[in-house]
Amino acid sequence: MPAIALTAGPDDIAEAARLLRRGELVAFPTETVYGLGGDATDGRAVAAIFAAKGRPRFNPLISHLAEAAAVAELAELDGRAREVAARFWPGPLTLVLPRRSDCPIALLASAGLDTVALRVPAHPVAQALLKAVGRPVAAPSANRSGRISPTTAAHVRAELGDRIAAILDGGACRIGLESTVLDLSGERPILLRPGGLPIETLAAVLGPIDRSQRADAAAPRSPGMLESHYAPLLSLRLEASAPRPGEALLAFGDAAAPGYAETLWLSRSGDLAEAAVNLFAALRALDRPEFSGIAVTPIPEHGLGAAINDRLRRAAAPRG
Ligand code: TXA
Ligand code: MG
Repeated sequence: MPAIALTAGPDDIAEAARLLRRGELVAFPTETVYGLGGDATDGRAVAAIFAAKGRPRFNPLISHLAEAAAVAELAELDGRAREVAARFWPGPLTLVLPRRSDCPIALLASAGLDTVALRVPAHPVAQALLKAVGRPVAAPSANRSGRISPTTAAHVRAELGDRIAAILDGGACRIGLESTVLDLSGERPILLRPGGLPIETLAAVLGPIDRSQRADAAAPRSPGMLESHYAPLLSLRLEASAPRPGEALLAFGDAAAPGYAETLWLSRSGDLAEAAVNLFAALRALDRPEFSGIAVTPIPEHGLGAAINDRLRRAAAPRG
């Protein structure tokens, strides 16, 4: 059955909350990307998330909450965690923290780890929904496994429209890149995934942050597979300076780039925030069989550029 199309109005948000409390899956907007939501305290709902995504294994999931205050019931917070939570929540940040022994989040959502990943999103529709549900909502990005994260309700429908109960449409995502995942469960803070909150901003509060050696947070066992996590069907060529026959171009900055079959700009003015917003939709739009591949012009590595380049490198990684 096709997913019910819900709007961001109060009746529809209440309906989405009812579905979630019944153990159904509902996709909903956050300011980063759309999430595939299920009741995080219901192991069967969490299992259904993995099934709907076609995830080859149980990667741990992020649980979403309306308020930072609720986090203390789920995880152990030290001074650093409290500070970062107070400054950056609600927002595009996920914290990996030690699970409390009485944490009601299903163990499956932690994939057997003794930590939980928690996020308080800022999107008003996500906020209203999470308040109405009154429980943590587990939500990976609402795409099939290995595909690009969705930034509109239409993307979600194309990916999962026949596999979930409903899609809550809150318009296009404001940031367009997944949250930054920061592990505060150990002595030193570790960046597990660059994302919507620049690492420089976090480092200004926390001091030095280690970079994870792993290709993807908490799922290091098959690096090759994880590298190509965010993949279009066409091959991607980074740091391109000259066109190859039949290629489409994903461009950044206003330098002329003749010779490509089609060009889409991430940002003509060289604005990284604008580029982040456009990234996944542009990759989708260029992922068409009439092109021989997608070339991408170089993108600076600072601020949101780190997360954009991380996603592009994964999308360009060889696939097994
Ligand atoms: O912006 C986002 O973060 C979106 C929206 C929907 O919130 N969600 C998202 O979820 O991107 P997902 O499942 O696609 O990515 C979750 C990331 C993965 O890299 C996962 O390995 C990591 O968080 N993660 C989750 N729980 C973890 C844990 N306990 N320890 C380490 N890493 C964890
Ligand atoms: Mg994802």
